Amino acid sequence: MKILIGVTGGIAAYKSLELTRLFIKAGHEVQVVMTSGAKEFIQPLSFQALSGNPVRDSLFDTNQEMGMGHIELARWADQIVIAPASAETLAKLRMGRADDLLTTLVVATDKPIMLAPAMNKVMWSNAATQENVAILQQRGFEILQPASGEQACGDVGEGRMPEPQVIFDAVNQFQVQQVKNQQACLELRRFWKGKTLLVTAGPTYEAIDPVRFIGNRSSGKMGFAIAEVAAKVGAKVTLIAGPVNLSTPVKVECLNVRSAQQMFEAVQQHVASADVFISAAAVADFRVAEPAAQKLKKQAGSDEMVLTLTKNPDIVAWVAQQDTKPFVVGFAAETENVLEYARTKLRSKNLDMICANQVGENLGFEQDSNALTLITEQQEKALPSSTKTQQATDLLRFISDLV
Ligand code: CTP
Repeated sequence: MKILIGVTGGIAAYKSLELTRLFIKAGHEVQVVMTSGAKEFIQPLSFQALSGNPVRDSLFDTNQEMGMGHIELARWADQIVIAPASAETLAKLRMGRADDLLTTLVVATDKPIMLAPAMNKVMWSNAATQENVAILQQRGFEILQPASGEQACGDVGEGRMPEPQVIFDAVNQFQVQQVKNQQACLELRRFWKGKTLLVTAGPTYEAIDPVRFIGNRSSGKMGFAIAEVAAKVGAKVTLIAGPVNLSTPVKVECLNVRSAQQMFEAVQQHVASADVFISAAAVADFRVAEPAAQKLKKQAGSDEMVLTLTKNPDIVAWVAQQDTKPFVVGFAAETENVLEYARTKLRSKNLDMICANQVGENLGFEQDSNALTLITEQQEKALPSSTKTQQATDLLRFISDLV
């Protein structure tokens, strides 16, 4: 593997010599890029001796550009590891700055990047640093958790660069996972490429009056994860979302609705072209029969308020009743007797498959991870607890084996 190690300014820079040695010893090719800050701590010659390659440090060195420009260097690498990654580097990467060779490389590459932050514990816990880390993670950077312990400045706490062996192991593990993900992606693509998927997600809000509504705690994350993974593996995805606080995944057409009735109409409009319909939305079973036109006022002398509710259309059951219908998947979010209730819903709604989901305190709703059991008339498969993206991947694979 071709590994590009970026070294930025920090006392931990000396540990990256050992990291370089570990990669070389394991048979990898290594090139090192140092920032000017890094060179304040350690001589480029040391990295050159260990890697067997001249150290790169300048964006504008005409000799180096003739040899291997920053674009070729970005293309050359299979994996980029920035260790140590200083607070300044995290901030620059978050902003997409390209004012030295290392940051320019990062902007110019589509290869996986692992960051090993190292800094004083207060700098690490600073809100700006934490925000930078969170955003870089969202963008796909692999960020190692700094180690805890005594720091060069005398403080004790979190912020030390992980030991070289820990970084080395993390890179290896990450590469193994990458290969697995690519294989999984290829398998999914075989079925989903060109298929049309319709997904509902999130809660519905049923108006009581112009300012109040009846809703539920669904975050929409599961449905959005399904839409995102399906689009990534080549499906044409339409997502019908109730009120959620999530950004639309790339290459997904998202229609925003509020009430169950609006969701029903949107599904009716789009279902004819769907190969698969996944009803992940937590649709309100009832709506207020007659929402008030004006804000309701408290009634003097009365401690009660009575709302008359009327049943909403059952969207997934309606789809499953059509003569020409897609493969229909429902969800059953339950707090007890999960599998039993789910099996009953599978039959009563005439679904092809149902995803049973235990919800409650710290489970299912509003969470990033989940544990679904996938149920059809013939099979049941319990997925181990994992991220909603992983659950979505497993669910889409299960469907591809059935359809
Ligand atoms: N669903 C729907 N339209 C509704 C209600 C539910 O499409 N009006 C779908 C959900 O998207 C989900 C499945 O039906 O796929 C959930 O079934 P349901 O029996 O409605 O679950 P609950 O609302 O939890 O019902 P109950 O209170 O009876 O458990």
